[in-house]
Amino acid sequence: MESERIPLKARNVSFSWQDTPLHWVPGDPFTTHTINVLHLLLPAGERWFVHVYKQVLPLIRDERLRADVLGFIGQEAMHSQAHDEVLPHLREQGLDPTPYTAQVDWFFEKLLGDRTLPPGRARRWWLLERVALIAAIEHYTAFLGDWVLNATELDRRGADPTMLDLLRWHGAEEVEHRSVAFDLFLHVDGDYGRRVRTWAAAFSALVFLWQRGIRFFMANDPATTGQKPSLAGFHRRGRQGTLPATGDMLRSIPRYLSRGYHPSHECSTAQAVAYLAASPAALAAEKAQRAAEGAA
Ligand SMILES: [Fe+2]
Ligand SMILES: [Fe+2]
Repeated sequence: MESERIPLKARNVSFSWQDTPLHWVPGDPFTTHTINVLHLLLPAGERWFVHVYKQVLPLIRDERLRADVLGFIGQEAMHSQAHDEVLPHLREQGLDPTPYTAQVDWFFEKLLGDRTLPPGRARRWWLLERVALIAAIEHYTAFLGDWVLNATELDRRGADPTMLDLLRWHGAEEVEHRSVAFDLFLHVDGDYGRRVRTWAAAFSALVFLWQRGIRFFMANDPATTGQKPSLAGFHRRGRQGTLPATGDMLRSIPRYLSRGYHPSHECSTAQAVAYLAASPAALAAEKAQRAAEGAA
C-alpha cells in the first residue's frame, strides 16, 4: 500500500552468542532445530537473492523500485551474514552443520546458479524464472517473519532472548520489505503461469530442504538421544504456538496463487517497524552508526 512505503535501509547488527544454549527453546530440541534450519538455508539462499538481483538491476525502468531493490539487497546481505555467524557457535557446541550446508550451497550455487547460457532468450528466461522463485520464497519469509513477531509462546517458554532478537529483527525486515520481490516480478514479467510454476518449485524445495535439515540436526545433536522428528510433533507444536500452525501455512498457499494477491495485503508494517525501533540489536546498530557519523 502506498502509505506503507518506507525507504529500506540495512541495519548493521551484530549478536553475541556465548550465552545461548544448544537447546535455546528450553527442553525442546525439535522446536529449536526446526527453527535452526533457518541458519543453514538463509546464508546461501539470501546470498543467491543478492546475486540474482544484481543481474536484474539493468532491467528496472522505475527509479523507486530500483531504490527498493537496492535496499532489499542491503538487508538480505546483512541477514545472510547474521545467520552465518551462528554456525561457529553450533560447532563449538558439538553440532557441525558443514555436511548439510555443503548440500545447500550446491543447491543455490549450482542448481539455481547462472548456468552457461548464451546471452539472449535462454539467459533472460532463466533470470525471470529465478526472479519469480524469489517472489515466491519472499511470500514465505514474510509469513515466517509475521509468525515469529507474534510467537509469544516462545517467550513464555523462556526461549533465548538473543536468538529471539535475531529472528524478530530478521522477521521484521522481511515484513518491512515483503512487497519488493513481488513488485520486481510484476515489473519485469508478472506472467501468472510463471508465478504458479515457480511457487510449486519453491514450496517443494523449501519443504524438502527443511525436513532434511531438521533430520540432520536431530541425528547429529550430541545432547539428544533417540528423539525422531515427526509430522505429528510438528502439528502439535503448531497448535501450541512454538512453531507455525499447519493450517495457517496451508491457508497462505491460495492467497499467493490468487490473481489479486499483493504482499501489502499480508502482515503488518506497523508491527515490524515498531519491533525494529525496540530491537536490542537494531538499536545497538543505530547507536554505532550515529557514533561513526559523529566521528566522521
Ligand atoms: Fe532476509
Ligand atoms: Fe527477504
